[in-house]
Amino acid sequence: MRELIEKGKKRLQWAREHMKVLKKVREEIKESRSLEGKNISMALHVEAKTGILALSLAEAGAKVKMASCNPLSTDDSVAEALREEYGMDVYAKRGETEEEYYENLNRILEHEPDVVIDDGGDLVSLIHTERKDLIEGIKGGCEETTTGIVRLRAMEKDGALKFPVMSVNDAFMKHLFDNRYGTGQSTIDGLMTATNLQLSGKKFLVGGYGWCGRGIAMRAKGMGADVMVSEVDPIKAVEAKMDGFDVGPAKENIKRADFVVTATGCKHVIGDEEIKNAKDGCIMANSGHFNNEIDISALEDNSEFSRTAREDVMEYSMKDGRKLYLLADGRLVNLAVGQGHPAEIMDMSFALQMLAADHVINNDLEDGVHNIPRELDEKVARLRLEADGIKIDKLSQEQKEYMEGWEEGT
Ligand code: ADE
Repeated sequence: MRELIEKGKKRLQWAREHMKVLKKVREEIKESRSLEGKNISMALHVEAKTGILALSLAEAGAKVKMASCNPLSTDDSVAEALREEYGMDVYAKRGETEEEYYENLNRILEHEPDVVIDDGGDLVSLIHTERKDLIEGIKGGCEETTTGIVRLRAMEKDGALKFPVMSVNDAFMKHLFDNRYGTGQSTIDGLMTATNLQLSGKKFLVGGYGWCGRGIAMRAKGMGADVMVSEVDPIKAVEAKMDGFDVGPAKENIKRADFVVTATGCKHVIGDEEIKNAKDGCIMANSGHFNNEIDISALEDNSEFSRTAREDVMEYSMKDGRKLYLLADGRLVNLAVGQGHPAEIMDMSFALQMLAADHVINNDLEDGVHNIPRELDEKVARLRLEADGIKIDKLSQEQKEYMEGWEEGT
């Protein structure tokens, strides 16, 4: 146990040293005392960078309770270190059952939160279905990811969302970097850790060309893979083509794919037809929030038997003799196998989370989904430039007037 705690402590310390933007935001919010005494319930992937967010909120005076937003993504060493070394209320363990997962979400609500911080929308959904009694006391929430925002907007459309939620995901300093470069890098990390196989020269299919898919495709190409993309959105499909990828339907592309990674936010992207067409030996993984992008029942129905081929690699022997592989039960491979996004990237996302929590506490916002104000987005960008020692240009007064006017054209 001591060894596990020490490992978690070191991971936390390492992350803290690389999260300089969050440090500045933490210092400012601590000084303003705006979060002092506030109860915060956080459902995020429990790992080192998230641990630093929880500790930052606590250092600013908030009372934080933390659970995971996914049953398979918890870093147990970090969870244990947070509990034992920092006295944090953390209710999460890797590989928890669905029942334990919801028990833990309920436990973080026991202190009747002022603010909820969610990743994927399960916590907000739980409150609106089974813990409606808490809604009155909740000043607002913050949502981390695209999947959560899609769910919240559906709730908003139905008039079902009963408190304001800040869309951290839609901030430029979040999705341009976390979704793209973060998912790109951490997905490759997860794939390589799980398989220890070669990527260069392999055919690699990316399902979805949103910010995450773009990042995965870019990084797979950088590793020398021959990348194909499948999309349902015609605009994104054109973009993928112009970015140099081979675009086509998943059921066709998968016939040639050595690796498949889904990142769409939609279910059954790899369904029965794609599984029937998949190339012998194909390795499939998901980087989207939920484990329904690859239809596991279709995989089971088409197979004769399965076995664990290697840690986090399930081998399915198909009735027609092919072998297909699924990583981490189709859970998001970058966290279930890899260590999640790089610290410097989560630094910006979590600085935004802290600013969003502060914003929602200090303003009386209407129920519904709210964008992060532009000035907070720019603040995070400037802090990041400062941390990297990068200076940028500034418009002169003459240029400012030119940009704001319309009479002068030449
Ligand atoms: N680390 C913490 N939260 C994460 C997320 N949503 N994606 C990847 N890595 C993370």
